[in-house]
Amino acid sequence: MQLNITCIPGDGIGPEIVNEAKKVLNKVGQVYGHTMNFTDILMGGASIDVHGVPLTEEAVATAKAADAVLMGSIGGDTTTSPWYKLPPNKRPEAGLLAIRKALNLFANLRPAVLYHELAGACPLKEEISDKGFDIMIMRELTGGLYFGERKTEEVNGVLKATDTLTYDENEIRRIAIKGFDIAMKRRKKVTSVDKANVLDSSRLWRKVVEEVAKDYPEVTLEHMLVDNCAMQLVKDPSQFDVVLTENMFGDILSDEASMVTGSIGMLASASLNDTKFGLYEPSHGSAPDIAGKNIANPIATILSAAMMLRYSFDLDKEADAIENAVKQVLKEGYRTGDIMSEGCTKVLCDEMGNLLAERIK
Ligand code: IPM
Ligand code: MG
Repeated sequence: MQLNITCIPGDGIGPEIVNEAKKVLNKVGQVYGHTMNFTDILMGGASIDVHGVPLTEEAVATAKAADAVLMGSIGGDTTTSPWYKLPPNKRPEAGLLAIRKALNLFANLRPAVLYHELAGACPLKEEISDKGFDIMIMRELTGGLYFGERKTEEVNGVLKATDTLTYDENEIRRIAIKGFDIAMKRRKKVTSVDKANVLDSSRLWRKVVEEVAKDYPEVTLEHMLVDNCAMQLVKDPSQFDVVLTENMFGDILSDEASMVTGSIGMLASASLNDTKFGLYEPSHGSAPDIAGKNIANPIATILSAAMMLRYSFDLDKEADAIENAVKQVLKEGYRTGDIMSEGCTKVLCDEMGNLLAERIK
């Protein structure tokens, strides 16, 4: 099979980790008889430096023409990088928001899994972490507060900023359907998270989710207020299967959930539209402080590549091969700095990529 993949190395550690993911994908291609056709595009700060904008129309066209997009990370140090002197719509993050919108990637899947081998890094008390957890945060990605109208104005000599949070029922329904579909392949529980005690958009969210739930009688639905959910994630994460929520709540809760695993360098993510097309990226950021040092953990990006094989190409065996290689390498005691613990062997970013590629069978 020919796999046409657009890559966005991006900023910070992005280029290093995408390189390792390409290495592993090429090995998968060799072993399973596929051809990986990679085309790189610029986005974020890397695009600003060359084109003056964080995303060009040509880059979007290249991404659209591919079967899937694999991304590293974008952005720099917000206090020191010159990118953050630019107007907000010209900064690196604007490129990411723009490509999500342009490709209609409304469904963001962010798994937060406690890896048995890395349980020691989990910041929770043992009595909580011992139960283990495997959560799928389903975040709506192209609506709500991050895409609403916004303005800053001066009213009677006083500066005033406004952001707006809007959802229509169709935007809610399509992400809810994805959430329930995914719950059917997992432990059949959906926790829909909102702030329905205050927000109209949340009350509509709840109503539409309840309608969708009627088509999934096997799935247990519960509603949870977002502030309570933030608390429950540290109190007892094992209670969650699929967490279905809107854009901003999902942004915040997915960072919290990934931190609770203790190994954010391990967590992948997928952003999907209603076809097989998707953009795959690690859940972590661009870590500018360690960029270019070959010490980043490439596993989240490599596991994102596995998600890409599974969701965009239906190559389940190949995706399993990558996930098994990751488990194998952890079992053999190899660790990058971020997940290092006593008695293990510390390796560099590219060494981790080599170890994983060698274990693809
Ligand atoms: C994320 C990031 C982005 C978001 C930023 C960089 C715009 O925080 O992917 O979670 O908020 O969506
Ligand atoms: Mg975020």
